[in-house]
Amino acid sequence: MVGVAKSMVGVITNHRESTEENKFPPLPNPPYHVGIIMDGNGRWAQERGKSRLEGHHAGTENLRRILEASVEFGVKMLTIYAFSTENWKRAPLEVRGLMQILENVIDRELQELHKNGVRLRHLGKLERLNPGIRKKVIHAVDLTKDNDRLILNVAFNYGGRDEIVQAVKHLMLDQVSPEEITEELLSRYMYTGTSPDPDLIIRTSGEFRTSNFLIWQAAYAEYYITPTYWPDFGKEEYYKALYEFSKRERRYGGRNE
Ligand code: FPP
Repeated sequence: MVGVAKSMVGVITNHRESTEENKFPPLPNPPYHVGIIMDGNGRWAQERGKSRLEGHHAGTENLRRILEASVEFGVKMLTIYAFSTENWKRAPLEVRGLMQILENVIDRELQELHKNGVRLRHLGKLERLNPGIRKKVIHAVDLTKDNDRLILNVAFNYGGRDEIVQAVKHLMLDQVSPEEITEELLSRYMYTGTSPDPDLIIRTSGEFRTSNFLIWQAAYAEYYITPTYWPDFGKEEYYKALYEFSKRERRYGGRNE
């Protein structure tokens, strides 16, 4: 298969060449938590006469660049939307291919990610995944649980509404009384638990939709939407998105006088 032969994170370094320093000066206020809707793999492939799966492989390659850049630019948590609960409706070949990508990424990249201090977490339901993949995901999450250089949340078989439903079910199973329910408590029942909400959500390929991604957590997130297809969303544009974010005034519904 095409794809993840090189290491996913290479050798992550915080040291930068001076030319790089000029090109990407340190950001005064980088977002702590960035979410990415990696859209446009299919159209990227179609425009090149390639298959949709080749588009997803190119998207996986791009993930490598964005992981490295996240460490370099000071992002501490990255949440990627890799497979939604709605993606099961796609052609079986494409669904199988996306499952295979997840498995290959774990098989080939886990040790390197671990060595580079990346903590992997899974957001979503494990139930519908095949037992082999499920086991690998659980192992990857467990192996990397003490790493803190970069937290990579992989939303796989994830849906925001589904997440809220499972949170409510668990609240009920825990027999929490209505008076005890607060926004903070409900947040803790989401897959993201006590993690900070996303500060910035990036969506590639020009669609203006949330597509069921972190709909609870993104209440006050800033959005950056670009027409660029995900496989072409490189380090320069990532920096631009983070730079734009760092200039925005966040008011959380209040007013800054
Ligand atoms: C949306 O593009 C993209 C996806 C549904 C899959 C994204 C997955 C990857 C980039 C692979 C990385 C995965 C892991 C597990 C690390 P689209 O197919 O909807 O594009 P289109 O709208 O142009 O058709």
